[in-house]
Amino acid sequence: MTGAAVLCRGVGKSYPSAAGRVQAVSGADLEVRAGEVMFLVGPSGCGKTTLISIIAGVLRRDTGECRILGTDLDTLAPAAASAFRRRHIGFVFQAFNLIPTLTAQENVAVPMLLNGAARSAARRAALEALEAVELGAHAAKRPSQLSGGQQQRVALARAIVHGPALVVCDEPTSALDHHTGMEVMRLLRRLAHERDSTLLVVTHDHRIYEFADRIAEMDDGRILRVGAPRPNDGSTVP
Ligand SMILES: Nc1ncnc2c1ncn2[C@@H]1O[C@H](COP(=O)(O)OP(=O)(O)OP(=O)(O)O)[C@@H](O)[C@H]1O
Ligand SMILES: [Mg+2]
Repeated sequence: MTGAAVLCRGVGKSYPSAAGRVQAVSGADLEVRAGEVMFLVGPSGCGKTTLISIIAGVLRRDTGECRILGTDLDTLAPAAASAFRRRHIGFVFQAFNLIPTLTAQENVAVPMLLNGAARSAARRAALEALEAVELGAHAAKRPSQLSGGQQQRVALARAIVHGPALVVCDEPTSALDHHTGMEVMRLLRRLAHERDSTLLVVTHDHRIYEFADRIAEMDDGRILRVGAPRPNDGSTVP
């Protein structure tokens, strides 16, 4: 695919609160090219989760424009928007959101089943995705029987099992030690590359900046600038 995987212009979103409305995102512009690894960074509360939730189609914007893989999800009927999201987007949440009563393999199979795959095909694809994140031997375990890093990798496997064109991750390494965080990022980058996916990753973690093609800096609900990562100091080169 060529062109922009994500194109946001002037996106705004507010939430109701006791003291009136909180403007979480206000006039955010962001373009993510097809096939690139884009990081989204910025201080806590600046609107990162809100913006990527809009991009991933799990939250509706109030204002602005947003085209994901060429489609404005807000113009689709709810059922069509859900179908589009299930088919083309993988989402890794800030909390892993694994289903505690299902095994690792069953958790990873969920997106395939929601897309209408046969049970046997979903199980096979789930095992392959778990093998890709080096957890094939743990397929039958439930989340509570896995370490934080292993649960994070199950969440990654679930996000990529159906071959989505866009994978959106919220803080995929924040709960992990340095070594495991680097491993997870290396894996994510390789999987995205092999599967020809675009990757948008929210992170606070300066240690993994080297994995980005470009970094978008956000503050106060806006994207301030976008640039290539500069080694070691966590800043960007425009
Ligand atoms: N569901 C909600 N209801 C009301 N306010 C919210 C809600 N979600 C987020 N906010 C507010 O919107 C603003 C942006 O929140 P958001 O979660 O997008 O920030 P963030 O950049 O992801 O922060 P963090 O790095 O801490 O995860 C914050 O002021 C937050 O308090
Ligand atoms: Mg957040």
